[in-house]
Amino acid sequence: METRVIEVEVPGRNEETYREVADMLRRGDIVAIPTETVYGLGADAFNAEAVAKVFEAKERPSFDPLICHLPNAASLSDIADVPPELQGLVNRLAETFWPGPMTLVLPRKSCVPDIVTSGLPTVACRVTQHESMRKIAKALGHPIAAPSANRFGHISPTTAQAVMKELGGRIPLIVDAGACSEGLESTILQPCIDEKGKPAVHLLREGPVTREKLRGLCRVLHKKSSTSPAAHPVNAPGQLPSHYAPTKPLILHNPRAPFTPTPGIVYGLISYQGNSPLAQQNCWAHTESLSPGSGRLAEAAVRLFAVMRAMDEREDVQVIVAEELPETGLGNAMMDRLCRAAARRG
Ligand code: TXA
Ligand code: MG
Repeated sequence: METRVIEVEVPGRNEETYREVADMLRRGDIVAIPTETVYGLGADAFNAEAVAKVFEAKERPSFDPLICHLPNAASLSDIADVPPELQGLVNRLAETFWPGPMTLVLPRKSCVPDIVTSGLPTVACRVTQHESMRKIAKALGHPIAAPSANRFGHISPTTAQAVMKELGGRIPLIVDAGACSEGLESTILQPCIDEKGKPAVHLLREGPVTREKLRGLCRVLHKKSSTSPAAHPVNAPGQLPSHYAPTKPLILHNPRAPFTPTPGIVYGLISYQGNSPLAQQNCWAHTESLSPGSGRLAEAAVRLFAVMRAMDEREDVQVIVAEELPETGLGNAMMDRLCRAAARRG
Protein backbone atom coordinates (compact mmCIF):
# COMPACT_ATOMS: atom_id res chain seq x y z
CA MET A 1 0.00 0.00 0.00
CA GLU A 2 1.24 3.49 -0.82
CA THR A 3 1.14 5.95 2.09
CA ARG A 4 0.10 9.45 1.05
CA VAL A 5 1.04 12.54 3.07
CA ILE A 6 -1.16 15.67 3.16
CA GLU A 7 0.32 18.80 4.73
CA VAL A 8 -1.92 21.11 6.74
CA GLU A 9 -1.15 24.48 8.26
CA VAL A 10 -2.12 24.84 11.89
CA PRO A 11 -4.03 26.91 12.63
CA GLY A 12 -5.16 27.42 9.08
CA ARG A 13 -7.80 27.00 6.49
CA ASN A 14 -7.87 23.23 6.22
CA GLU A 15 -11.60 22.53 6.31
CA GLU A 16 -11.61 20.92 2.87
CA THR A 17 -8.79 18.54 3.84
CA TYR A 18 -10.47 17.67 7.13
CA ARG A 19 -13.72 16.83 5.32
CA GLU A 20 -11.78 14.58 2.94
CA VAL A 21 -10.09 12.78 5.85
CA ALA A 22 -13.44 12.42 7.65
CA ASP A 23 -14.86 10.81 4.48
CA MET A 24 -12.01 8.29 4.45
CA LEU A 25 -12.65 7.44 8.11
CA ARG A 26 -16.37 7.12 7.36
CA ARG A 27 -15.50 4.56 4.66
CA GLY A 28 -13.56 2.53 7.26
CA ASP A 29 -10.01 3.64 6.41
CA ILE A 30 -7.41 4.44 9.07
CA VAL A 31 -5.38 7.68 9.00
CA ALA A 32 -2.47 9.10 11.04
CA ILE A 33 -3.55 12.42 12.55
CA PRO A 34 -1.49 14.82 14.73
CA THR A 35 -2.28 15.90 18.28
CA GLU A 36 -0.21 18.26 20.42
CA THR A 37 1.33 15.28 22.27
CA VAL A 38 2.19 12.66 19.62
CA TYR A 39 0.73 11.55 16.27
CA GLY A 40 -2.26 9.20 16.57
CA LEU A 41 -3.46 6.43 14.24
CA GLY A 42 -7.17 7.11 13.96
CA ALA A 43 -10.28 5.12 13.06
CA ASP A 44 -14.01 5.82 13.43
CA ALA A 45 -14.49 4.69 17.04
CA PHE A 46 -17.96 3.34 16.27
CA ASN A 47 -16.73 1.13 13.40
CA ALA A 48 -15.29 -2.05 14.94
CA GLU A 49 -13.84 -3.28 11.63
CA ALA A 50 -11.97 -0.02 11.11
CA VAL A 51 -10.65 -0.15 14.68
CA ALA A 52 -9.43 -3.70 14.03
CA LYS A 53 -7.25 -2.29 11.21
CA VAL A 54 -5.54 -0.03 13.77
CA PHE A 55 -4.58 -3.04 15.90
CA GLU A 56 -3.36 -4.85 12.80
CA ALA A 57 -1.24 -1.96 11.46
CA LYS A 58 0.37 -1.41 14.88
CA GLU A 59 0.67 -5.13 15.69
CA ARG A 60 -0.94 -4.13 18.97
CA PRO A 61 -2.27 -6.83 21.33
CA SER A 62 -6.04 -6.73 21.71
CA PHE A 63 -5.85 -6.38 25.52
CA ASP A 64 -4.60 -2.80 25.11
CA PRO A 65 -7.55 -0.37 24.77
CA LEU A 66 -7.60 2.84 22.70
CA ILE A 67 -8.23 6.50 23.56
CA CYS A 68 -11.33 8.11 22.00
CA HIS A 69 -10.74 11.65 20.72
CA LEU A 70 -13.71 14.00 20.96
CA PRO A 71 -14.26 17.34 19.18
CA ASN A 72 -15.14 19.08 22.47
CA ALA A 73 -15.90 18.45 26.13
CA ALA A 74 -19.67 18.59 25.50
CA SER A 75 -19.43 15.35 23.46
CA LEU A 76 -18.11 13.45 26.49
CA SER A 77 -21.64 12.30 27.29
CA ASP A 78 -21.83 10.59 23.84
CA ILE A 79 -19.46 7.86 25.05
CA ALA A 80 -19.16 8.10 28.86
CA ASP A 81 -21.60 7.91 31.77
CA VAL A 82 -20.14 10.15 34.44
CA PRO A 83 -21.42 9.05 37.87
CA PRO A 84 -23.16 11.97 39.67
CA GLU A 85 -20.65 11.85 42.55
CA LEU A 86 -17.78 12.45 40.08
CA GLN A 87 -19.49 15.01 37.85
CA GLY A 88 -18.13 18.04 39.75
CA LEU A 89 -14.55 16.77 39.57
CA VAL A 90 -14.84 15.79 35.89
CA ASN A 91 -16.20 19.26 35.07
CA ARG A 92 -13.33 20.92 36.93
CA LEU A 93 -10.71 18.79 35.18
CA ALA A 94 -12.31 19.33 31.77
CA GLU A 95 -12.56 23.10 32.25
CA THR A 96 -8.95 23.31 33.41
CA PHE A 97 -7.19 20.95 31.00
CA TRP A 98 -9.38 20.51 27.88
CA PRO A 99 -8.64 21.02 25.13
CA GLY A 100 -5.23 19.69 26.12
CA PRO A 101 -2.97 16.75 26.96
CA MET A 102 -5.25 14.99 29.48
CA THR A 103 -7.14 11.70 29.07
CA LEU A 104 -9.96 10.71 31.45
CA VAL A 105 -10.94 7.07 32.02
CA LEU A 106 -14.68 6.92 32.74
CA PRO A 107 -17.52 4.38 32.72
CA ARG A 108 -18.40 3.70 29.08
CA LYS A 109 -21.67 3.87 27.22
CA SER A 110 -22.76 0.73 25.35
CA CYS A 111 -22.37 2.47 21.95
CA VAL A 112 -18.57 2.14 22.31
CA PRO A 113 -17.50 -1.16 20.70
CA ASP A 114 -15.72 -3.74 22.85
CA ILE A 115 -12.68 -3.68 20.61
CA VAL A 116 -12.04 -0.01 21.54
CA THR A 117 -12.05 -0.67 25.30
CA SER A 118 -10.69 -4.24 25.18
CA GLY A 119 -13.91 -5.25 26.87
CA LEU A 120 -13.32 -3.00 29.91
CA PRO A 121 -16.32 -1.25 31.50
CA THR A 122 -14.47 2.06 31.06
CA VAL A 123 -13.46 4.21 28.08
CA ALA A 124 -10.49 6.61 27.78
CA CYS A 125 -11.63 10.06 26.59
CA ARG A 126 -9.60 12.99 25.34
CA VAL A 127 -10.14 16.45 23.78
CA THR A 128 -6.82 17.40 22.20
CA GLN A 129 -5.78 20.97 21.61
CA HIS A 130 -4.77 20.18 18.04
CA GLU A 131 -7.28 21.43 15.51
CA SER A 132 -6.62 18.54 13.08
CA MET A 133 -7.91 15.78 15.36
CA ARG A 134 -10.76 17.87 16.77
CA LYS A 135 -12.03 19.17 13.43
CA ILE A 136 -11.79 15.78 11.73
CA ALA A 137 -13.76 14.23 14.62
CA LYS A 138 -16.33 17.03 14.25
CA ALA A 139 -16.62 16.47 10.49
CA LEU A 140 -16.93 12.70 11.04
CA GLY A 141 -19.64 13.12 13.67
CA HIS A 142 -18.14 10.25 15.71
CA PRO A 143 -15.22 10.08 18.14
CA ILE A 144 -11.89 8.97 16.67
CA ALA A 145 -10.22 6.00 18.38
CA ALA A 146 -6.49 6.63 18.10
CA PRO A 147 -3.45 5.16 19.83
CA SER A 148 0.01 6.58 19.17
CA ALA A 149 0.97 6.00 15.53
CA ASN A 150 3.89 3.63 16.13
CA ARG A 151 4.26 -0.12 15.99
CA PHE A 152 3.49 -1.64 19.39
CA GLY A 153 6.21 -1.11 21.98
CA HIS A 154 8.17 1.33 19.80
CA ILE A 155 8.97 5.01 20.38
CA SER A 156 5.93 7.28 19.83
CA PRO A 157 6.15 9.51 16.72
CA THR A 158 6.25 13.30 17.12
CA THR A 159 6.60 14.10 13.39
CA ALA A 160 4.96 12.84 10.19
CA GLN A 161 8.38 11.53 9.09
CA ALA A 162 8.56 9.37 12.22
CA VAL A 163 5.05 8.02 11.48
CA MET A 164 6.22 7.19 7.95
CA LYS A 165 9.16 5.19 9.35
CA GLU A 166 6.85 3.30 11.73
CA LEU A 167 3.81 2.69 9.54
CA GLY A 168 4.71 3.64 5.95
CA GLY A 169 3.21 1.07 3.54
CA ARG A 170 0.69 -0.07 6.17
CA ILE A 171 -1.70 2.92 6.19
CA PRO A 172 -3.15 5.00 3.33
CA LEU A 173 -2.66 8.54 4.70
CA ILE A 174 -0.70 10.73 7.12
CA VAL A 175 -1.94 14.24 7.94
CA ASP A 176 1.27 16.25 8.39
CA ALA A 177 1.05 19.31 10.66
CA GLY A 178 4.74 19.43 11.57
CA ALA A 179 6.30 18.56 14.92
CA CYS A 180 4.10 18.05 18.00
CA SER A 181 4.30 20.87 20.52
CA GLU A 182 4.27 18.72 23.70
CA GLY A 183 6.17 15.62 22.58
CA LEU A 184 5.00 13.29 25.39
CA GLU A 185 1.73 11.34 25.49
CA SER A 186 -1.21 12.70 27.47
CA THR A 187 -1.57 12.29 31.21
CA ILE A 188 -4.14 9.54 31.93
CA LEU A 189 -6.39 10.02 34.97
CA GLN A 190 -9.15 7.82 36.32
CA PRO A 191 -11.52 9.79 38.57
CA CYS A 192 -12.63 7.80 41.62
CA ILE A 193 -13.97 8.15 45.16
CA ASP A 194 -11.21 7.78 47.77
CA GLU A 195 -11.43 5.91 51.09
CA LYS A 196 -12.76 9.06 52.79
CA GLY A 197 -15.60 9.32 50.29
CA LYS A 198 -13.99 12.29 48.48
CA PRO A 199 -13.47 12.62 44.69
CA ALA A 200 -9.85 11.92 43.66
CA VAL A 201 -7.95 10.67 40.62
CA HIS A 202 -5.77 7.66 39.98
CA LEU A 203 -2.74 8.73 37.95
CA LEU A 204 -2.51 5.92 35.36
CA ARG A 205 0.13 7.53 33.14
CA GLU A 206 2.37 10.54 33.83
CA GLY A 207 2.32 13.22 31.15
CA PRO A 208 2.23 16.96 30.41
CA VAL A 209 -0.52 17.54 33.01
CA THR A 210 1.91 17.05 35.88
CA ARG A 211 1.26 16.14 39.53
CA GLU A 212 2.11 19.78 40.34
CA LYS A 213 -0.58 21.06 37.95
CA LEU A 214 -3.16 18.74 39.54
CA ARG A 215 -2.31 19.84 43.07
CA GLY A 216 -5.05 22.03 44.48
CA LEU A 217 -7.62 20.57 42.08
CA CYS A 218 -7.96 17.10 43.55
CA ARG A 219 -6.12 14.38 45.44
CA VAL A 220 -3.83 12.33 43.20
CA LEU A 221 -3.42 8.66 43.99
CA HIS A 222 -0.32 7.02 42.62
CA LYS A 223 1.55 3.98 43.71
CA LYS A 224 5.18 4.99 43.79
CA SER A 225 8.03 6.71 41.99
CA SER A 226 8.17 6.32 38.21
CA THR A 227 11.74 5.04 38.39
CA SER A 228 10.59 1.48 39.03
CA PRO A 229 7.84 0.75 36.53
CA ALA A 230 8.31 -2.97 37.12
CA ALA A 231 6.94 -2.41 40.61
CA HIS A 232 3.89 -0.63 39.20
CA PRO A 233 0.69 -2.61 38.94
CA VAL A 234 -0.36 -2.58 35.28
CA ASN A 235 -3.60 -0.66 35.69
CA ALA A 236 -3.54 1.07 32.32
CA PRO A 237 -3.39 -2.19 30.40
CA GLY A 238 -0.92 -0.91 27.79
CA GLN A 239 1.50 0.53 30.35
CA LEU A 240 3.77 -2.49 30.32
CA PRO A 241 7.18 -2.39 32.02
CA SER A 242 8.83 -2.48 28.59
CA HIS A 243 7.67 0.17 26.14
CA TYR A 244 8.91 3.17 24.11
CA ALA A 245 11.78 0.94 23.10
CA PRO A 246 14.60 1.84 20.73
CA THR A 247 16.03 -1.15 18.85
CA LYS A 248 19.35 -0.66 20.67
CA PRO A 249 19.83 -1.31 24.39
CA LEU A 250 19.30 1.79 26.54
CA ILE A 251 20.90 2.24 29.98
CA LEU A 252 19.93 4.92 32.51
CA HIS A 253 22.79 6.52 34.41
CA ASN A 254 23.25 9.16 37.12
CA PRO A 255 24.74 12.27 35.41
CA ARG A 256 27.09 12.87 38.36
CA ALA A 257 28.42 9.30 38.67
CA PRO A 258 31.30 7.99 36.53
CA PHE A 259 30.37 5.53 33.79
CA THR A 260 32.60 2.52 33.16
CA PRO A 261 32.39 1.52 29.50
CA THR A 262 32.73 -2.13 28.51
CA PRO A 263 35.69 -2.39 26.10
CA GLY A 264 34.64 -3.04 22.51
CA ILE A 265 31.18 -1.44 22.87
CA VAL A 266 30.46 1.93 21.26
CA TYR A 267 28.25 4.19 23.37
CA GLY A 268 26.14 7.25 22.62
CA LEU A 269 24.96 9.60 25.37
CA ILE A 270 21.59 11.34 25.75
CA SER A 271 22.43 14.17 28.14
CA TYR A 272 20.01 16.62 29.70
CA GLN A 273 22.03 19.77 29.00
CA GLY A 274 25.33 18.37 27.72
CA ASN A 275 27.33 19.88 30.59
CA SER A 276 27.22 17.16 33.27
CA PRO A 277 30.29 15.30 34.61
CA LEU A 278 29.01 12.27 32.64
CA ALA A 279 28.92 14.27 29.40
CA GLN A 280 32.57 15.34 30.00
CA GLN A 281 33.79 11.71 29.83
CA ASN A 282 35.50 10.87 26.57
CA CYS A 283 33.84 7.50 25.97
CA TRP A 284 30.93 8.77 23.85
CA ALA A 285 30.91 8.22 20.08
CA HIS A 286 28.09 10.74 19.93
CA THR A 287 26.24 12.98 22.39
CA GLU A 288 22.76 14.49 22.05
CA SER A 289 21.43 17.06 24.50
CA LEU A 290 17.74 17.14 25.36
CA SER A 291 17.73 20.76 26.44
CA PRO A 292 20.93 22.38 25.17
CA GLY A 293 19.53 25.90 25.27
CA SER A 294 17.17 26.75 28.09
CA GLY A 295 17.78 23.74 30.32
CA ARG A 296 14.03 23.65 30.78
CA LEU A 297 12.20 20.35 31.18
CA ALA A 298 9.58 21.44 28.62
CA GLU A 299 12.29 21.77 25.94
CA ALA A 300 13.60 18.30 26.85
CA ALA A 301 10.09 16.79 26.74
CA VAL A 302 9.42 18.09 23.24
CA ARG A 303 12.71 16.62 22.01
CA LEU A 304 12.91 13.36 23.97
CA PHE A 305 11.37 10.93 21.45
CA ALA A 306 13.05 12.59 18.45
CA VAL A 307 16.44 12.37 20.17
CA MET A 308 15.83 8.70 21.10
CA ARG A 309 14.99 7.99 17.47
CA ALA A 310 18.04 9.90 16.19
CA MET A 311 20.32 7.91 18.53
CA ASP A 312 18.69 4.66 17.49
CA GLU A 313 19.32 5.42 13.81
CA ARG A 314 23.03 6.31 14.16
CA GLU A 315 25.32 3.66 12.76
CA ASP A 316 28.20 4.71 15.03
CA VAL A 317 26.32 3.92 18.28
CA GLN A 318 25.68 0.41 19.67
CA VAL A 319 24.36 1.15 23.15
CA ILE A 320 22.50 4.27 24.30
CA VAL A 321 23.20 5.73 27.75
CA ALA A 322 20.60 8.26 28.97
CA GLU A 323 21.09 10.59 31.92
CA GLU A 324 18.56 10.28 34.72
CA LEU A 325 16.41 13.43 34.77
CA PRO A 326 15.16 15.47 37.73
CA GLU A 327 11.95 13.82 38.98
CA THR A 328 9.85 16.91 39.24
CA GLY A 329 7.17 18.25 36.88
CA LEU A 330 7.64 16.89 33.36
CA GLY A 331 10.73 15.03 34.57
CA ASN A 332 8.43 12.37 36.09
CA ALA A 333 6.79 11.65 32.72
CA MET A 334 10.16 11.57 30.94
CA MET A 335 11.67 9.22 33.52
CA ASP A 336 8.63 6.96 33.15
CA ARG A 337 9.29 6.70 29.38
CA LEU A 338 13.07 6.26 29.81
CA CYS A 339 12.64 3.54 32.45
CA ARG A 340 10.33 1.60 30.15
CA ALA A 341 12.75 2.09 27.23
CA ALA A 342 15.53 0.71 29.45
CA ALA A 343 13.38 -2.27 30.51
CA ARG A 344 12.89 -3.34 26.93
CA ARG A 345 14.43 -6.79 27.00
CA GLY A 346 14.87 -9.43 29.64
O1 TXA B 1 -1.22 11.60 23.93
C1 TXA B 1 -1.82 10.54 23.81
O2 TXA B 1 -2.50 10.04 24.72
C2 TXA B 1 -1.75 9.82 22.45
C3 TXA B 1 -2.50 10.69 21.43
C4 TXA B 1 -2.52 10.06 20.05
O3 TXA B 1 -3.80 10.92 21.89
N1 TXA B 1 -2.33 8.53 22.51
C5 TXA B 1 -1.73 7.49 23.14
O4 TXA B 1 -2.40 6.28 22.96
O5 TXA B 1 -0.70 7.59 23.77
P1 TXA B 1 -1.79 4.88 23.35
O6 TXA B 1 -2.77 3.90 22.85
O7 TXA B 1 -0.42 4.76 22.82
O8 TXA B 1 -1.81 4.87 24.91
C6 TXA B 1 -3.06 4.88 25.55
C7 TXA B 1 -2.98 4.25 26.89
C8 TXA B 1 -2.65 2.77 26.85
O9 TXA B 1 -1.64 2.50 27.81
C9 TXA B 1 -3.96 2.12 27.26
O10 TXA B 1 -3.75 0.93 27.95
C10 TXA B 1 -4.57 3.18 28.14
O11 TXA B 1 -4.26 4.37 27.50
N2 TXA B 1 -6.04 3.04 28.19
C11 TXA B 1 -6.92 3.14 27.18
N3 TXA B 1 -8.17 2.89 27.60
C12 TXA B 1 -8.09 2.60 28.91
C13 TXA B 1 -9.05 2.25 29.91
N4 TXA B 1 -10.33 2.11 29.64
N5 TXA B 1 -8.59 2.03 31.17
C14 TXA B 1 -7.28 2.18 31.47
N6 TXA B 1 -6.33 2.51 30.56
C15 TXA B 1 -6.73 2.71 29.30
MG1 MG C 1 1.47 4.30 22.57
